[in-house]
Amino acid sequence: MAAERSRRIKRLHFFGEKARFHHIGLAVKSIRDVSPSSEVIVDSVQKVSLAFVSVGGIKIEFLEPSGEDSPVFESLKKNVKLLHICYSVPDIEKAIQECRKHGFHCIARPVPAVAFNNRKIAWVYSPVYGLIELLESPGKP
Ligand code: NI
Repeated sequence: MAAERSRRIKRLHFFGEKARFHHIGLAVKSIRDVSPSSEVIVDSVQKVSLAFVSVGGIKIEFLEPSGEDSPVFESLKKNVKLLHICYSVPDIEKAIQECRKHGFHCIARPVPAVAFNNRKIAWVYSPVYGLIELLESPGKP
């Protein structure tokens, strides 16, 4: 079974071998409407309110635009719900360098994120794979 799986599923290391799936970002008009009991975090840097839920073992980040200047507002206007996939990486600068080899470019340099105890996030984009969020793992020296 394992051998069969490994033949069928090719492993790609866009962000380094230690990159791990962290969450999917989903646009919603109102977090209160979809998940009234969730703790809502306001991120003024990213211009969103956000909350995390777990669905079938997958962490989903609900993203609500903070205003019409929020990138999430534009996505909702186009009815685009799935916004990004986030990977945690041990070293965000190395991950940015690594993914350049695979056609990604960095569209927002690492900044501390209030949603992750000020761990750094960065945004990279590929015309093939779309928008990816990178989140630096805790405990980086
Ligand atoms: Ni995210």
